[in-house]
Amino acid sequence: MTSGHIFIATSLDGYIAREDGSIDWLEVPGAELEDHGFAEMMASVDGLIMGRGTYEKVLEFGVWPYEKPVIVLTRSLKAADIPEHIKDKVSFRASDPAELMTDLAREGWIRAYVDGGRVIQSFLSVGLIKDMVLTRVPVLLGGGRPLFGALQGDIRLNHVETQSFPSGLVSSRYQIIEPD
Ligand SMILES: NC(=O)c1ccc[n+]([C@@H]2O[C@H](COP(=O)([O-])OP(=O)(O)OC[C@H]3O[C@@H](n4cnc5c(N)ncnc54)[C@H](OP(=O)(O)O)[C@@H]3O)[C@@H](O)[C@H]2O)c1
Repeated sequence: MTSGHIFIATSLDGYIAREDGSIDWLEVPGAELEDHGFAEMMASVDGLIMGRGTYEKVLEFGVWPYEKPVIVLTRSLKAADIPEHIKDKVSFRASDPAELMTDLAREGWIRAYVDGGRVIQSFLSVGLIKDMVLTRVPVLLGGGRPLFGALQGDIRLNHVETQSFPSGLVSSRYQIIEPD
């Protein structure tokens, strides 16, 4: 099965976006001069899986930022909704996470970057995430869209490394410990 990998920024209180989806708080002075490992992460995956919420936010950027294939999980959008300029890079699927990872393995994907809060939660809850890099932004939002949510049981992780940056960003890498 294809393995899932997370690379995401959160506020110090664990949110990935404000309630209205805005991510203005991700911009921290000086952070653009630092290497937080994004390019290395992108080079290590065969493509991205993201939720419709994340896809719609990325579309707002105007310029599509990904070269690798992007699979958008959605039950509400149809292929005809994909803008012409990204039709060769984006596809929509409505599969459940395990079915998707099995299909992707058949299609030759070894590693997938999994993005979007609700999608990450659903992949985590069924054991499809192998590791995660969480970059904490020094801001408290007091509310918003959380990265983590309810689980059937604890998920234990090994802390691999933590790096802090002059901008105040703190990036930690964890590996998920598979249950016995
Ligand atoms: N801080 C960061 O680094 C970072 C990174 C990524 C995203 N974000 C932000 O996070 C927000 C989006 O996250 P989100 O949690 O609201 O949404 P999301 O996880 O990106 O998307 C959720 C949507 O995906 C679809 N979906 C299909 N299968 C699913 C499944 N198995 N599990 C969950 N969803 C599934 C559903 O859309 P349908 O209703 O169409 O079926 C669902 O409403 C955006 O504001 C984005 O900017 C921040």
